[in-house]
Amino acid sequence: AARRLTAPDIRARKGGEPIVSLTAYHAHTARLIDPHVDFMLVGDSLGMVMHGMETTVPVTVEMMILQGQAVMRGSSRALVVVDLPFGSYEGSPQQAFATASRVLKETGAGAVKLEGGRRMAETVRFLADRGVPVMGHVGLTPQAINTLGSFKALGRDEASAALILDDARAIAEAGAFSIVLEAISEPLARQITQEVAPPTIGIGGSSACDGQILVLEDMLGLSDRVPRFVKKFADIGPAIGAAVESYASEVRARAFPGPEHVYAPKKG
Ligand code: KIV
Ligand code: NA
Repeated sequence: AARRLTAPDIRARKGGEPIVSLTAYHAHTARLIDPHVDFMLVGDSLGMVMHGMETTVPVTVEMMILQGQAVMRGSSRALVVVDLPFGSYEGSPQQAFATASRVLKETGAGAVKLEGGRRMAETVRFLADRGVPVMGHVGLTPQAINTLGSFKALGRDEASAALILDDARAIAEAGAFSIVLEAISEPLARQITQEVAPPTIGIGGSSACDGQILVLEDMLGLSDRVPRFVKKFADIGPAIGAAVESYASEVRARAFPGPEHVYAPKKG
């Protein structure tokens, strides 16, 4: 089998063929997407998508490690990046290193992602210097929901765009191997992509970015409410509902299980 892609492989894709990525939280979805993506993100969005939480704030390191292990078992080719959850890294570079090294050791993943720009630059440098590849995440940073007030696009006026550009520059200079740009205006995404050395990965960041990511369940049509930046590439929610409806009616009619699903007694 070919070796797994690494953070330096992703870093080297700047300005080339667009980088393809999706989230994965489970072994089975990891197995399905592995042949098609360059990296998969075990996103802390799993708190909202898998567990029905209102925000990503309650997600724990233990949850991220458990799903990170599952995704590693289900994949062999793509780089696996694991999100550091709220509260597990912002306190100090030392706290971030303790969490990130635990995540890498216990999951076998090849990189971590953390949210924040200038305020996290020192931490990004501290981790990158100590063997932890860091993916940055600027623009809309959902872990800051309680200070932001709502999940809305940012950087749409000049003052806010300038701050986000500074955020992206700061973590790029600190050594982030790639940077997620979430829910920002297209001209800003284009400018950041042109100015920073590591590849940018857009989610609501326009095609100007060096790559794209979406939450898998959102693009499959399994989520009830999705942001403007999501395209539904399939609508499997109704297909699941229809399958379950058929199952229920066949069970009630004793049409399932049929003779082909039944074990006969052994002869002799
Ligand atoms: O948690 C997540 O799914 C993410 C991506 C959407 C970038 O951080
Ligand atoms: Na996330």
